[in-house]
Formats: sequence, C-alpha cells, structure tokens
Amino acid sequence: MSKITNTLPIVILASGTGTNARVLMEYAKEYPEHLKVVAVISDRPEVGVLAIAKEFGVATYIVDHRSESTLLALMQKLKPSWACLAGYKRKVGQGFLDHFWDASLGFSRIMNIHPSLLPAFPGLNGYKSAFEAGVKVAGVTVHLVDAGLDTGKTILQECFERDDDDTLETFEKKGRKIEHKIYVNAVKLAAAGRVRLVTKNGATFVSTEK
Ligand code: GRF
Repeated sequence: MSKITNTLPIVILASGTGTNARVLMEYAKEYPEHLKVVAVISDRPEVGVLAIAKEFGVATYIVDHRSESTLLALMQKLKPSWACLAGYKRKVGQGFLDHFWDASLGFSRIMNIHPSLLPAFPGLNGYKSAFEAGVKVAGVTVHLVDAGLDTGKTILQECFERDDDDTLETFEKKGRKIEHKIYVNAVKLAAAGRVRLVTKNGATFVSTEK
C-alpha cells in the first residue's frame, strides 16, 4: 500500500446493520491521519448503523432518498471527498453522481460494496442468488458507482469457494468476512490516490497500481 499523505474525508450511506460501516469507522479511529468519517447517512431511522455511528462519535443524518436536494445540501456542508455506500438499499440520483464527479479521474468518487462477483448477480440478495444458482465460486466486489444498478467499474474483487456442505448461512459468512477486509482496503487505495481509470488493450478498468 502506498503512503497516505492526507486524511481522506468520507461519508457513509447505509440502510441496515452497518457491519461494513463499523469496519471503516474502526479504521478511521485507529488511523485518523488516513481517514475521517464525517457522517453516516441513512434513508431509514432506527437502523443498526446509526447506533454504531453514535458509538464512534460520528454525526448521523436521516435523509429520505427522494430528497436529493437535502442530500446535496449536506454534501456541500460536509465536503467529503468520497461517498461510500455500505448496504445502502437505494440508487443514488444524478445530482449526487454529479456532485462527486471528478473530471480529472473520469468518474464520480462514490464506491459501493456488493455481495457477488459482479457483473454476476447485481441487485439485492447477491449471496442468496449465487448460492441458489449453485455457483462453485462466489465473491465480493467493491466498485465505482455510476447511474446503473451495480454497473460501475470494479475497484477490488475477491472470491471464495462453495463447499458441498455450505448452507446459505455458512456461504454468506465467508463472503461477509471478505467484505470487511476488502472495503477498508478499497478506501485505503482511494486515500492513497490509487484508484484510477486506465484504458488498455481495448478495455477500460480501474488500476490500483502505484
Ligand atoms: C453487505 O452484504 C453488502 O455487501 C451489501 O449490503 C450488506 C450490508 O451489510 N451491499 P452491513 O449493513 O454493512 O452489515
């Protein structure tokens, strides 16, 4: 990992239990010189992620996903460099994508964690869909967010194997363990300025090389 020379300010958008948000806040607490979680924003009140944010002393906001102007006003105020979606069960709007658009990078500085090896199994219930489809290899993807549903370029991906005696629970447990490792790694790459789009041999992809 190359050196992180500035603290990266991020907001986390989440709708649920918040285990990924917790890992990011733990990292920020341990390395405040690398990462600052300026706020956790949820579209739902009384979800676990809000309690976790309070535990870490991170500001929380509940914003109805239909009110993009409220979300944008908050972004103007908080000035995060990146938005990290962690179990945010909504698509972000065009105004949000535009707010985080970085012309020099050629993408919006928004990332998401998804419980499958995209482009397989986009949308909700990634582990369940992969498990029920009988895949031998499943995985987790951290990707850039664009206007599509889980269609942005992959930043990091890691796979795991299905064992014959896996239940959906044991299968998902393997994936969740990977999630909690690779999301923080992707954020560290962003903090180190190592998330870049490259076009080579006819394909555009994210390079995280130094
Ligand atoms: C994770 O499985 C993530 O991959 C998906 O939503 C879930 C969020 O879990 N996008 P948590 O709220 O971070 O525990």
